[in-house]
Amino acid sequence: MTTAELKPILVFDSGIGGLTVLREARVLMPERHFIYVADDAGFPYGNWEEPALKERIIALFDRLLEEHDPEICVIACNTAFTLAGADLRAAFPEMRFVGTVPAIKPAAERTRSGLVSVLATPGTVRRAYTRDLIQSFATQCHVTLVGSQNLARMAESYIRGDTVADADILAEIGPCFIDEGGAKTDIVVLACTHYPFMANVFRRLAPWPVDWLDPAEAIARQARRLVPSPEGFEPLIGEDPAIFTSGKPDFSTRRLMQGFGLTVR
Ligand code: DGL
Repeated sequence: MTTAELKPILVFDSGIGGLTVLREARVLMPERHFIYVADDAGFPYGNWEEPALKERIIALFDRLLEEHDPEICVIACNTAFTLAGADLRAAFPEMRFVGTVPAIKPAAERTRSGLVSVLATPGTVRRAYTRDLIQSFATQCHVTLVGSQNLARMAESYIRGDTVADADILAEIGPCFIDEGGAKTDIVVLACTHYPFMANVFRRLAPWPVDWLDPAEAIARQARRLVPSPEGFEPLIGEDPAIFTSGKPDFSTRRLMQGFGLTVR
């Protein structure tokens, strides 16, 4: 079998946030083709009612799996996976799904102050899945959940090269910073895959230095574990496809995709 005959890895997000995971997965899985899928017609996922969003995601995967027959699917979206991960696995038992969930466990293991914040979409903050993670792994910590209404959109604008005002960004990340009698938040979990694109801005604007936890590399490592590296395969060179459910990503999105080695289909 040649490299070209290996099945592709499907990476999914509501928008362009999944690119933060794709870039790590590419490094660890150089012999694979990828298909990037952005459900931009449904973006942002953060404010959807749960039953409707779940139904949408399952219906979408019904088509995607049929059309692309991937080796595995990486759900590079906390908002989607914390809602529909279990349903996807139940609906498509023959497919393997790598999920993205808020990195609450590693944050609880690392914090020194015991004050951890989770910066996510309003949807991820509402999820029972997120509450369960706190119950299971972080009862000894003080976890602040910050559901940002606007940050995923801001990240999309920022990465496309538009100006986003510092004051607007600070208004979204400010609630993550808790100072309780001298003990201060020391870890902020980036629980939306869009946010790592803005990590440098967050660092510049933060009232004090914290560790911004980006799970992208851990997700890529999990994908690599599921798809063992074959012997003697050459790294792939060339473009991979990107699919936008709207069917009409704008010029700056196409340019961005090009920069990530993706061609919009
Ligand atoms: N990138 C997605 C996540 O990780 C969500 C963005 C959105 O649709 O609001 O949660």
